[in-house]
Amino acid sequence: MTTHLDREAPSIAPGPRARSWSRWAVTPPLVAFLASARLRDRPDRLLSLLRDHDPIHRSPFGFWVLSTHAEVEATLRDHRFGSDEVNLDLDLLRLGPLHRMMGHGDVTYEGEFMDVSHDLMLFRDPPDHTRLRGLVARAFTPRRLAKIEDRVEAVADELLADLARRPGFDLMSELAYPFPARVICELLGLPQSDHELISIHGRSLAVGLDPLPSKEQLREADGAVVALRRHLEPVFAARRSAPRDDLLSDLVGAADDGDSLTADELLATVVLLLIAGHETTANLIGNGTVLLDANPEERERLRAGTVDPGRAIDELLRRDPPVQMTQRIALDDAELGGRAVPKGSIVALLFMAANHDPAVFEDPTRLDLDRPNANRHLTFGGGAHYCLGASLARMEGRIMLPKLLRTFPGLQVASPAPRHRPSFTIRGYERVDLTV
Ligand code: HEM
Repeated sequence: MTTHLDREAPSIAPGPRARSWSRWAVTPPLVAFLASARLRDRPDRLLSLLRDHDPIHRSPFGFWVLSTHAEVEATLRDHRFGSDEVNLDLDLLRLGPLHRMMGHGDVTYEGEFMDVSHDLMLFRDPPDHTRLRGLVARAFTPRRLAKIEDRVEAVADELLADLARRPGFDLMSELAYPFPARVICELLGLPQSDHELISIHGRSLAVGLDPLPSKEQLREADGAVVALRRHLEPVFAARRSAPRDDLLSDLVGAADDGDSLTADELLATVVLLLIAGHETTANLIGNGTVLLDANPEERERLRAGTVDPGRAIDELLRRDPPVQMTQRIALDDAELGGRAVPKGSIVALLFMAANHDPAVFEDPTRLDLDRPNANRHLTFGGGAHYCLGASLARMEGRIMLPKLLRTFPGLQVASPAPRHRPSFTIRGYERVDLTV
């Protein structure tokens, strides 16, 4: 969805010749990283190569890649960079060869996919972004969140109780996905029985967020929107005739007064909450559990309650972020670290590289649940688009992970080791088999 935009490129020869040796050192592994599942499992060497030798990297495919904490953070807050793809200059991009290397074949997008994407606040700039965000922000005030905290606890308890008599289970399908899906139902005011629908379609939608989705993935994402629309439209109609005290009724009301939310924006906003709040939190639980399994002392501290669970969740988010990157588009000719970035360029911001920057985090690849500055991670982004659900996600992690460890003190990740899903924006596992 972020870039269903492509140009036919004649060959896979790199673009303008790089001037320094370091750029040559970085480019082939970067491409391999995008294409290879093995490198997805062990990204740290490549990320430090990028940070150390070419922190403002111009890839031969025409986009820029930022990897230091300072640059990623500054660009997220920089008004010269926006999120709306109408400002993208396609002539600067050569993504065709990259698609072919990733096995997608010749991908050209005609723009008929994911027709909600231009109505998502995530891909809008002010003033539309400000208006859309303002409407949803009221659902995430500390008071509203405190009101649903008991329900989040109850949902976690119910799911864990269902698993308690099993000798083992797949964490992802049995707990990590259903949990946030049920919480979003709670937040929006949808029946709990909708959580399966959200789980199935949420995953397809999240893959559509990748910077280089295949045509197949986009088709799937598009199908998910159609299915969700079919399901949600009667629900919108029901709220219209009988509003309740829930977020869905607030949003339907805003759509009905005509000025604040169009019908398309209403659907897009609900779909965004379903994607943004589901796949991400599921992978916080999946990645977090695998990390804790690999670090038994830290895991014991969380289980025993000798570390602050809030700080521990931030450290897990820092160490293995469920969202690895985002992108911005230069709204004007700009300069980054002394390099000229032309108007219309795409700039990829690598959260994981920033989160492992030794200039900010001491011994960055070590998991330290007591790390004093863990919350300086950029996993929730920053600036105008800073994650609206950050407090909710932290609450979900803080509630679920210690409960999981206490319910199953002997829990272990079974072999073979879990494999990462073939997606790039979202970082998470296909499945995580546990023995308990
Ligand atoms: C661990 C869990 C989560 C992570 C890592 C995460 C990460 C992010 C990131 C990085 C962005 C900014 C993207 C950008 O700047 O381009 C974002 C935006 C957003 N997130 Fe989250 N998120 C999480 C959970 C949630 C939850 C639970 C919800 C709500 C139910 C949510 C709702 C949103 C919304 C609505 C936006 C768009 C904000 C805007 O464009 O102004 N997120 N999230």
